[in-house]
Amino acid sequence: MSIIKELEKDIKNTIENIGYNIDNFTLEVSKRKDLGDYQINDCMNLAKAYSKNPRVIAEEIKKKLEEDDRLTNINIAGPGFINISLSDKFLVNTINLINDDINNNIDKKEKKKVIMDYGGANVAKALHVGHLRSANIGEALKRLARRLGYEVISDAHLGDYGRPLGLVILEIKKMYPELEYFNDNYKGDYSDIEIPITNDDLEKIYPAASLKAKEDENYLEEARIITTKLQNHERGIYDLWKKIIDISKKEIKQVYDKLNVYYDLLEGESDAAEYIPELLEILEKRGVTKKSEGATIIEVKEDGETSPMPPVLVVKSNGSYSYETTDLATIIERKKKFNPDEIWYCSDGRQQLHFEQVFRATRKAKLLDDNVKLEYIGFGTMNGTDGKPFKTRDGGVMTLKALIEMVKDETRKRINYDIVLEDKVEETVEKIAISALKYADLIPNRITDYIFSPDKFSDVEGKTGPYLLYSTIRMKSLLQKGYEYKQDNYIKINNDTDRDIIIELLELPNILTKSLDSKSLNDIADYLYILTNKYNKFYSENKVLLEEDKRLQESWLVLTKVVYNTNLLLLDILGLLVPEKM
Ligand code: ARG
Repeated sequence: MSIIKELEKDIKNTIENIGYNIDNFTLEVSKRKDLGDYQINDCMNLAKAYSKNPRVIAEEIKKKLEEDDRLTNINIAGPGFINISLSDKFLVNTINLINDDINNNIDKKEKKKVIMDYGGANVAKALHVGHLRSANIGEALKRLARRLGYEVISDAHLGDYGRPLGLVILEIKKMYPELEYFNDNYKGDYSDIEIPITNDDLEKIYPAASLKAKEDENYLEEARIITTKLQNHERGIYDLWKKIIDISKKEIKQVYDKLNVYYDLLEGESDAAEYIPELLEILEKRGVTKKSEGATIIEVKEDGETSPMPPVLVVKSNGSYSYETTDLATIIERKKKFNPDEIWYCSDGRQQLHFEQVFRATRKAKLLDDNVKLEYIGFGTMNGTDGKPFKTRDGGVMTLKALIEMVKDETRKRINYDIVLEDKVEETVEKIAISALKYADLIPNRITDYIFSPDKFSDVEGKTGPYLLYSTIRMKSLLQKGYEYKQDNYIKINNDTDRDIIIELLELPNILTKSLDSKSLNDIADYLYILTNKYNKFYSENKVLLEEDKRLQESWLVLTKVVYNTNLLLLDILGLLVPEKM
């Protein structure tokens, strides 16, 4: 248990031993630092519950708390607020404990096995801005959940099985009709038949094909037929598809690597295909499907529900499967392979309805035990400075790669070439740019849309990734220079700035828990900024390396180290990369 939780537990016990029951007790960091470090605001509620004067209760509690040598300066204000401060001895002890092991400042959750479905890139299509959010938020949640003790299996769940692939294959057929993949009479092996197509080609082929399908009904119909052939694993088409997948997956993995996003599984919709027959069998057995206009559907609308809730299309009238079908089959696959306690889906806010349909169908067909939780983690869109979804200059869809390049250009302008060695420039630019992008994306509550300005978020000043990196590197450099003095023991608190940092550090476990509960990283992003600012205030007020009181100097170095390690922990949770120098 974290130090702060331990203290809260003990205070709660003290109050209950006097005879007052308290359900949730937490220490509130005081906004009035002159009155104390924390406030206890429970006396008003207790007064109601026990029909007593709140000040009388406050007095009783105060008397008991005075026996606790971790606390000092206990005073009562107003109708019955109790202000308390932490004793210097306790604060000193706290820093040493966190310095011993940062886990002393983290509360672990009860162990759970979670499958985290995020990223969701589509093969043969360029990743776009929306995919950044899914990968970024999902990755950070995965890292956070792991830190707090969950077992997390991450899966990108690539879109590799639907009509877009049918369209791409059709367009390739139009471009290269002579390819053996389209030759029904070809009986040989496909494995060594090369295709004249690169990933860049693929990214152009899909938009072209998609446009044609919109304009030409016959073209669309042809694509539908190919999609069904693909899903039936028909020779030739299926083999070509495998080649496309290979090319595209390599590229996708490279982009994710660049973003510092890593998966245990890079599976796709297609990997669930082998579970579709079993899915259909279960649905049939449980009697949850219906025939409707040649298709097989599951009704998921509840009685009296007024908002739109279309039925789940399990098998389309032409025999192909929908996006919902593969998600349902994936649930069967995941249950078989991992038997998770929870499955989390981090995907664009526009897919909310899709997941609601899938979840309802899952429950209706009892694909999972009722206690297995399904959670949809949606998010808003990243907009340009004009408040509209981020677009290219000419109004086209902004690919993720183009966006990264844009931020890199901004970053390059600000690199300090006196500090960063020439052969490290590219690597440094990349790390800073990715951090700028990712941090900006994690500051807002995930549900809200936000405005991304490459210029603003690449700045080394302000609430930005580069500012955090810069400050953290400066801590490291201070520690390196101060190393010769270091005994690694925090001995004494100097003043209120030091004190303020320690109180802030004690908030860490709450922030982490809150973030995981809300599945939003904004609290962590904020906290990192606040802690860093407090440390920077300390840094500018004190000349650590010139300090003559060696006990104080040593204490300051330990404090620096604890903040530095906390920053590294949080930067790692957020998935930001720290360069050597900047
Ligand atoms: N490929 C989808 C997209 O680009 C996201 C996939 C989300 N995950 C899932 N299990 N459906 O929108």
